[in-house]
Parts: sequence; C-alpha cells; structure tokens
Amino acid sequence: MIELSVDGRTVQVEPGATLLDACTAAGVETPPLCFLKTRTPVGACQRCVVELEGSRALVPSCLRAAEPGMEVRTDSARVRHSRKMVLEFLGSSVDLSTAPELRRYAAIYDAHPERYGECRTASQPLKVDNALYVRDYSKCVLCYKCVEVCGTEAQYTFAIAVSGRGFDAEISTEFDVALPDSACVYCGNCIGVCPTGALAFSSEHQMRANGTWDEERQTETDTICSYCGVGCVLTLHVQDNCIVKVTSPLDDDVTSGNLCVKGRFGATYVHAEQ
Ligand code: SF4
Ligand code: SF4
Ligand code: FES
Repeated sequence: MIELSVDGRTVQVEPGATLLDACTAAGVETPPLCFLKTRTPVGACQRCVVELEGSRALVPSCLRAAEPGMEVRTDSARVRHSRKMVLEFLGSSVDLSTAPELRRYAAIYDAHPERYGECRTASQPLKVDNALYVRDYSKCVLCYKCVEVCGTEAQYTFAIAVSGRGFDAEISTEFDVALPDSACVYCGNCIGVCPTGALAFSSEHQMRANGTWDEERQTETDTICSYCGVGCVLTLHVQDNCIVKVTSPLDDDVTSGNLCVKGRFGATYVHAEQ
C-alpha cells in the first residue's frame, strides 16, 4: 500500500491509485468534471486540481499517480481560487442551465461568471437532425467524454471528434455533417456521459421545451434489456407512466454504462398501442 497525507490526514491507497483516489479515501470531495471512473482520464478540465508539496504548479488529481510520502492539500486558497476561476470561465462561456452539478460547485466555490459579462463564446444553434437525440453545443464544456466513449473507450465508432482550435474548438461529426449522414450508430453512449445536458434525448428536450420535464416526479427502475441475450442493465427513467429516457449504471459489470441503440432508445415499444 502507498501511504500519503491529504489535508493532514494519513491515507493508504493501492499502487496505481491517483491523488483523486487518495482524496476519496480521505473522505474529501474534489470536483472532477472530465473524469469518469470507467474511462481513462484525459485531464481536460483542470477542475480537480490540488496542491502538492514540492510541486510548483497545481496538479490535476485525476491524472497524478499517488506516491509514498506525498503531502496533498485540497482546500488551500490557491486551490479554491483555481477551481473558482475554472468554474467562472465555464459559466461565462457556456450555458449551464441543465448542469445542476456544475452550478452546485459554482456555489461552493463562490464562482460568479456574471462578473465577466455576457460572453457565451460557445453559443451556437441547437442541432436537431434526427428523431432520437439533440445536440446543444452552447452547453458543451469540452470535457471530451462523448468523444472518448464514441471512440476507443467504448463504441469504436469515431463519429465525433474535437474540431477547431481555441475559441473555435467544438465537438463535431466529420465535416460537420448531420448525424444521419455521419458514422453515428445512435448508441447514445455520448448522451450517457455528458455532464451538462449538451446531448439530450429528444423526449427530454421536448419536455423541457414544454415545461413538463420534472425530475422530482420521475422514478428510476433497473431492468434487463429484452432485445438480446447479453443481459444489459437498463435504468428506466419514468415520468407520468412514460419512459422518458434510458441509462445504464456506470458500475454495471456488463455495460459499464454503455448500451446499443436498441437498449438506449428501443424500450419505448412498451407504450405502443398494438
Ligand atoms: S450515439 Fe454513439 S455512435 Fe453516435 S455519436 Fe454518440 S457515442 Fe458516437
Ligand atoms: S457534448 Fe457533453 S460530453 Fe461532449 S464534450 Fe461537450 S459537455 Fe462533454
Ligand atoms: S477531472 Fe481532473 S482534469 Fe478534469
């Protein structure tokens, strides 16, 4: 085991663990954004940074391997300031209205994106080009999770990637073609990992537009997909006796949160009248 200190507390973690794992072991909440426990960390957001004794720069805790004797501080003024700035820059450039977790952290770190004025650099038209899901890149924080699961982390379809640089960087299909003309196979795994609602089921998007989307009235029920013999766990999100979206638990041994088009979008056959 590796022994190190987090905020003055001694913790032990397995070899290969990260500083984020050590923080979790110490019971310290860090605010990861681009990190997902089932995917290889990419270090895109820098929101999980911590202060490491002897290191000049703050280090992303999701990427940095734990080493014996390290002294980590997660709540110093420097760390809080850095996280606050990341949250403010995101909030001033991106629409976070459907990202409750990000807004919760903004409150914790006293982030005030409005002090930068109405920037909204990511603003662009909603993409509605198929019946299953919509893409609203005005809400995209470029965490790369969708690109990863569409590619080598799950689906190996490579329908989307980051195009452009700097302020022009955005998630795009090849040559920005509409989804039906792209390589997309509508597995919806990108929707499942998107932390901001930039990718959303058409049903959710429509209900939000109508003002009828109400998560407090929704129930979540796990079941096994009925389409084939793999045995994927589906979590059915139900409102007013209707399946409004389908996810799968990240910690499920069979799916690791991933589904195919039938599991993700096919369950609504139960509502058919004949
Ligand atoms: S639905 Fe699946 S194939 Fe299509 S872009 Fe998303 S992850 Fe890629
Ligand atoms: S669309 Fe969602 S998952 Fe993809 S990069 Fe943007 S915020 Fe992340
Ligand atoms: S969560 Fe660690 S860099 Fe994004």
